[in-house]
Amino acid sequence: MTTEPRPDSDAIENLLREERTFAPSDEFVADALVRDPSIYERAASEDGFRAFWTDEAKRLDWMEPWEDLYTWEAPYAKWFIGGKLNVSVNCLDRHVANGLGDRVAYFWEGEPGDTRTITYADLLDEVCRFTNALRGLGVKKGDRVAIYMPMIPELPVAMLACTRIGAAHSVVFGGFSADALADRIDDASCSVVITADGGYRKGATVALKKAADDAIARTSSVEHCVVVKRTGDDVAWDESRDHWYHDLVDGQSSKADPEPMDSEDLLYLLYTSGTTAKPKGIMHTTGGYLAGVSATHRLIFDIHPETDIYWCMADIGWVTGHSYIVYGPLANATTGIIYEGAIDYPEKDRWAQIAAKYRATILYTAPTAIRALMKYGADAFADDDLSSLRLLGSVGEPINPEAWAWYWKEIGGGRCPVVDTWWQTETGMVMIAPLPGITTLKPGSATFPFPGVVADVVDEGGRSVPLGGGGYLVLERPWPAMLRGIYGDPERYEQTYWSRYPGRYFAGDGCKRDEEGYYWLLGRIDDVMNVSGHRISTTEVESALVSHPSVAEAAVVGRTDPITGQAIFCYVILRSGHEASDELGKELRTHVADMIGKFARPKQILFTPDLPKTRSGKIMRRLLRDIAEQRDLGDVTTLADANVVSAIRDQSGKGED
Ligand code: WT7
Repeated sequence: MTTEPRPDSDAIENLLREERTFAPSDEFVADALVRDPSIYERAASEDGFRAFWTDEAKRLDWMEPWEDLYTWEAPYAKWFIGGKLNVSVNCLDRHVANGLGDRVAYFWEGEPGDTRTITYADLLDEVCRFTNALRGLGVKKGDRVAIYMPMIPELPVAMLACTRIGAAHSVVFGGFSADALADRIDDASCSVVITADGGYRKGATVALKKAADDAIARTSSVEHCVVVKRTGDDVAWDESRDHWYHDLVDGQSSKADPEPMDSEDLLYLLYTSGTTAKPKGIMHTTGGYLAGVSATHRLIFDIHPETDIYWCMADIGWVTGHSYIVYGPLANATTGIIYEGAIDYPEKDRWAQIAAKYRATILYTAPTAIRALMKYGADAFADDDLSSLRLLGSVGEPINPEAWAWYWKEIGGGRCPVVDTWWQTETGMVMIAPLPGITTLKPGSATFPFPGVVADVVDEGGRSVPLGGGGYLVLERPWPAMLRGIYGDPERYEQTYWSRYPGRYFAGDGCKRDEEGYYWLLGRIDDVMNVSGHRISTTEVESALVSHPSVAEAAVVGRTDPITGQAIFCYVILRSGHEASDELGKELRTHVADMIGKFARPKQILFTPDLPKTRSGKIMRRLLRDIAEQRDLGDVTTLADANVVSAIRDQSGKGED
């Protein structure tokens, strides 16, 4: 295999030392979709904004046209009012009708090495069969369907079949525990659960059906459980409730009428952590969401659907996968790669082997993955030909300039723009990111709001902070893919996002802008941690800990971690009669993993006799964070008992994973 010579690693330090900026190369600009910077100015005015989204939405197939582009009665937006469309038709039927049936929708690669190539015609066929199967089970418009699956082709098939029927899916990431799944099934009263016998992860199998059984046993709304055979592992079976996927689709017709959906009908729910122990069911609707994700996907990733091979390495169970593996890319008739397993298994360069094999042109991943690959070093993939790559993306957490520069140089060979994309489960679509044909990049900055997006950085009082300063990120104008609420809890919706600065969306992120107006996202400012790009609430982990019989009280903070961004650090007060020990620490970490999911396993438990509290009894998190980071403690005089701090500090560093 021929490989291009790789740039010298020392050069990365020089790149950063020089504080270089990265203007688009002539070669990239020559073929770029967006080459005219006036796009920002045009989308800024109200008329221009309306024209921009009108044009974008017209690229979709509508069964009935909309009457009004949008209405905004803060905090409630509606988009493409009166319009009717079906998402699966836009992702599949219209491409097949346009003669693209033979185009590959997904190259799928299983962790054990099995593969499938699925064309748009194949995908439409499979989605219709499964639509008929679900209808046969009684699933209809307006129902909620839970999906708890590994990264296999049947996962997007199940999502698209739901959209064809007009049932809202609620995908629960396969790494969540049975308890977490039960809470989510319950909150939305899902009538069907779609799962698999198991999935592959680092050579082992994950028993998904077993977890689904345990979850369903704790809920009362589920009538049917559909099971894809993936691993062949033995599973328990309830004849009255369980159905094999392959039995259900066998003999079904490959034609299924799509439900005409109102633009504002519910498309899906996706649960995300907030500052309380109860996750929020974020609601996304049909027309605005699809217009938003297809436009941002096309323009930010500079999609050329005839030639690009696009690989978003996220799991479909998170919003990144919903918007940028399934809906955006399929709406744009893109050819994508889906990989089931861990990117470094069985070899450190498994990801690079896959990228080379399919000649990937675009990679989209998280800083935590980049840092993990950085640790292995560029030598680990020196034999893989990555010369097909032309664009790189980052998402999920702030990307440190070192990781950015390494990504740019070692993976992108110094020729691929890196688009750092800031957004959230709630925003549905990317909100702050470069347009790679016109934006001069700065390592570590997500650069500028997408055309038409109006963002600001404000202080405590809501005053805009001048360029050069930092504060809280807010969004000022509605956008088509924005959340429409929290399922079953409008009060929490208003409270969480709209009460701090009335009329403005409060993102929960700190942000600074430099003198040139570049946005630099600084991470969460609330009690939400970001571990490997996954949002985990401190309260959720605390309540998991106190549900263990040995724990009297717990306080949880995120501590800076070189690979995962943040790591979960727990302070635990034991009930009397329980002794602190390494074994108990391990048991508690496992307990949290069992309660929430393995990705939420704490890094460190610190047993302490007491916790620092204010006189009014509030736990002092800032102080606990400082101790976790082993920072200078500053002023602790509001402590109820100052001795607590030294007692805690003496213990710090023990009980690490
Ligand atoms: C939170 C949203 C968006 C899909 C994955 C995470 C952080 C996300 C960036 C970025 C800095 C980022 C923010 C945000 N975040 N992307 N490019 N730079 N921070 O979705 O689980 O809803 O989490 O992730 O803190 O609020 P999510």
